[in-house]
Amino acid sequence: MPVLVIGTGYGGCVAALRLAQAGVDVHMVEMGMAWDTPGSDGKIFAGTRTPDYRSYWLRTRTKQPLSNFLGFPIDKDVPRYTGILDAEDFSGITVYQGRGVGGGSLVNGGMAVTPKRENFGAVLPSVNPDEMYGVYYPRANAELGVSSIDPAWFDTTACYQYARVGRKHAQRSGFPFLYVPTVYDWDYMKREADGTVPKSALIGEILYGNNHGKKSLQQTYLPKIRATGRVTISSLHKVTTVRPASGGGYTVEIDQLSTTGETTATKSVTADRVFFAAGSVGTSKLLVKLKATGALPNLNGEVGKGWGDNGNVMCGRANHMWDPTGTVQSAIPTAGIDNWAAGGAFAEVAPLPTGIETYASFYLSITRNPNRAQFSWNASAGRVDLNWQASWKQPSITMAKTIFDKINSTEGTIYRTDLFGTYKIWGDHLTYHPLGGAVLNKATDNHGRLHGHPGLYVIDGALIPGNTSVNPFVSITALAERNIEKIIATDL
Ligand code: FDA
Repeated sequence: MPVLVIGTGYGGCVAALRLAQAGVDVHMVEMGMAWDTPGSDGKIFAGTRTPDYRSYWLRTRTKQPLSNFLGFPIDKDVPRYTGILDAEDFSGITVYQGRGVGGGSLVNGGMAVTPKRENFGAVLPSVNPDEMYGVYYPRANAELGVSSIDPAWFDTTACYQYARVGRKHAQRSGFPFLYVPTVYDWDYMKREADGTVPKSALIGEILYGNNHGKKSLQQTYLPKIRATGRVTISSLHKVTTVRPASGGGYTVEIDQLSTTGETTATKSVTADRVFFAAGSVGTSKLLVKLKATGALPNLNGEVGKGWGDNGNVMCGRANHMWDPTGTVQSAIPTAGIDNWAAGGAFAEVAPLPTGIETYASFYLSITRNPNRAQFSWNASAGRVDLNWQASWKQPSITMAKTIFDKINSTEGTIYRTDLFGTYKIWGDHLTYHPLGGAVLNKATDNHGRLHGHPGLYVIDGALIPGNTSVNPFVSITALAERNIEKIIATDL
């Protein structure tokens, strides 16, 4: 087979589509499920307020990012299943990732943000910004279906009252407030609000999949991939090993999984070229293991390095009774507070879609946290570890406080302490935005070709060294579009 792609997220879909359009046959291998068949409730995806067997990747208890409500823990037992959201625990951090055909696009919030050009040099220092802002960011935005909310509707709809409260508080403290583009179908959301279509964002769907309205890769790249007729996709198949084949190319070992996570068959295929698109964590874990165990001995010492959490940190604020945030909150955030230049933080005004009035404002901040961790092979345990330390979130908290301490003092309000535990203000134990581990121009050349093994490529978030200054998927997509164009032109 000419090309095997490991993973079906943003990087994998860009690679498969462009290769297939160039006439190359591609096999995509995805450890998660296809997510194309409704459950007994008639829905493909479980609701956020009612997690079930579909919600978590091989866990017997949910691990909800907001673990508590009014101080009470809200996690519950679920049957072990190859569900959609993986809460992967490392020693100092839990990394949330999407599992299934479409990768993180299935579970994410749909915020589709292009970094400010002035910040791009720090995001990808070896990449020409003229190319990115002239060609590849526009291409990624167009393919992903990115658009911005109608400001007049934002100003009046009940479902963004929480974001308007966020705007008012940001502006009264002098912070620039901006709309955040998304991949949600805004006309669909308006019809949700009118009550003429089944609801998705307006019943809080996020984290475990959106049944309507959100344009995940299932609505964008994947139909185009299928239309080429050149791509096969194997779901519930997990790549375990890649090693040079005796006759050239690479032998790829694959475990076929049951929906309870057992290996039901082991397969071996040979491919001329292999693209690692298993996500920052998935790609890094594979490469670190394959280098350490001798399967890919020539990978360089940069493999596993440069991993960051995009500076994610969450918090809530308790508003006064005259600032209700609304009982219906769109699950798709579309507003942000930009204090990046002055304080190193970009905060999204996020929903708390509980269905009841909470008088709370909730935020996910992306911060310029400088800490970078490394993956390493733990031979005795037979697994890959990550050396992130819980205390490394402190710079993120300090940066987020440049926004929220000021807002609290202007408004005479306080932080919520009941969302992440008891008397715990900061959601500082997790990230939604893993980045790095096989950094561009370090572990690979400047277009993602892995050093030491011709025909192996990285084409996902592992290439980006730890931070994008905003939500990452548009940058991952744009970089993949840039790299695959070069690879098709010169390597095939
Ligand atoms: P991605 O993780 O998308 O895809 C990798 C795929 O490879 C997965 O499907 C995985 O199952 C598969 N895989 C891994 N190992 C494998 C193996 N060994 N064999 C076979 N398959 C394997 N970003 C953003 O820009 N805006 C937002 O609003 C949000 N919100 C958000 C919310 C939540 C809850 C999460 C978890 C994440 C976000 N993100 C986000 C982050 C965004 O989704 C993420 O950055 C991208 O999905 C990463 O794209 P990649 O192509 O790197 O990998």
